[in-house]
Amino acid sequence: MRTPVNPLRPAARAAAVPPSATAALDAHAKALAAAGAPVINLTSGEPAFATVEPAARAAEQAIAEDFTRYTPAAGIPALRTAIAARLNRYGTECEAAEVVVTAGAKQALHYAFTALLEPGDEVLVPAPYWVSYPHLITLAGGKPVPVQPETGNGLKVTPEQLRAAVTSRTRVLLLNSPANPSGVVYSRIELAALAEVAADHDLAIISDEICDHWVFGDARFASVASLGPEIASRTVTIGGVSKTFAMTGWRIGWLAAPTELTTAVAALQSHTASAPSSISQRAALGALSADLGAELERRRAELDARRLTTIKALDDTPGLQVAGTPEGAFFLLADVTGLYGKTYGDRSITSAADFAELLLAEANVAVVPGTDFAAPNHVRISYTVPPELLREALDRLADFVSALN
Ligand SMILES: Cc1ncc(COP(=O)(O)O)c(C=O)c1O
Repeated sequence: MRTPVNPLRPAARAAAVPPSATAALDAHAKALAAAGAPVINLTSGEPAFATVEPAARAAEQAIAEDFTRYTPAAGIPALRTAIAARLNRYGTECEAAEVVVTAGAKQALHYAFTALLEPGDEVLVPAPYWVSYPHLITLAGGKPVPVQPETGNGLKVTPEQLRAAVTSRTRVLLLNSPANPSGVVYSRIELAALAEVAADHDLAIISDEICDHWVFGDARFASVASLGPEIASRTVTIGGVSKTFAMTGWRIGWLAAPTELTTAVAALQSHTASAPSSISQRAALGALSADLGAELERRRAELDARRLTTIKALDDTPGLQVAGTPEGAFFLLADVTGLYGKTYGDRSITSAADFAELLLAEANVAVVPGTDFAAPNHVRISYTVPPELLREALDRLADFVSALN
């Protein structure tokens, strides 16, 4: 007789994927808050704004019209056209046929890796990187190859570093600017130099541009596919409405690429999700079609003020150091090595995880240790919470640090 085995044991590909560390921390902080602790949660990956009004109205309209059936696998034509038009504001020359609408940028990334990678193909991933990238790559059969920035280079990788990491198995260069978790924004010139490495080694580029709107100060967003036709022909652009329009729960993202790839991705989607939600697609169309310039500008100014408040508070806290120049997204990394060896009661701090754990337990402030972002001596601070809460959290942080021995 066969030795009994658990029939529901996860296959190796699923067993290798842990739950998202940020989601786990977010859940822990929320559970503490639900139990009555006055927790301020600086772990969130979404802007603390309401979904833009025209999106909500368009969704209501879609329901009223009973627009509730399967849509074409690649998304409704009007939305694909609106997405192409939006991308082209950045100087690309994208057409509706080169766009596939997905259930969030995350699903677009999943399709992109699945469509491009053969088993064992390598993907260059500049670090620090968003937690989901390595798992999305592994799940698609690929191998993530982290490229760590050199000390003193503002958390940015250089073309030379990418060149040194290329092997005969390298297939994709993954770029993400503005970057999660560091908030670093690569300039157009810097991106061009990185993209040139991809061109020289005939690599595809996947450019995650989900935070395109959230760029502050003198920094300017540049879309990789706008760097010229040769680069555009090897680039998959990832984006969505989640972050710009405060629509994370609506689950609409996109992938834009030459039609050879979008046709393959639409086929993948047709056999998996069928299509994204019809109602959410109409909501996204509402957001993209409305004149939201002034509203989005107001939100950007608010977030910029929160960013500057956070940087100032960290600069004023001995032992903590802002890493790189956070000029985009709504996160930054604080280097905590200056606090290693310090103690709180009988607990000593020897890692970013120790620091984050103690800060939550003693000061009720939740931040994410950087281990899973390949930034092991840092914590990620998400500064999107409303200003009064942010101020209170930063005061608690400073008090906690000054109470360390
Ligand atoms: C860098 C990056 N890419 C993609 C995503 C996924 O966004 P979406 O909500 O559209 O799936 C996130 C969300 O946290 C992100 O930070």
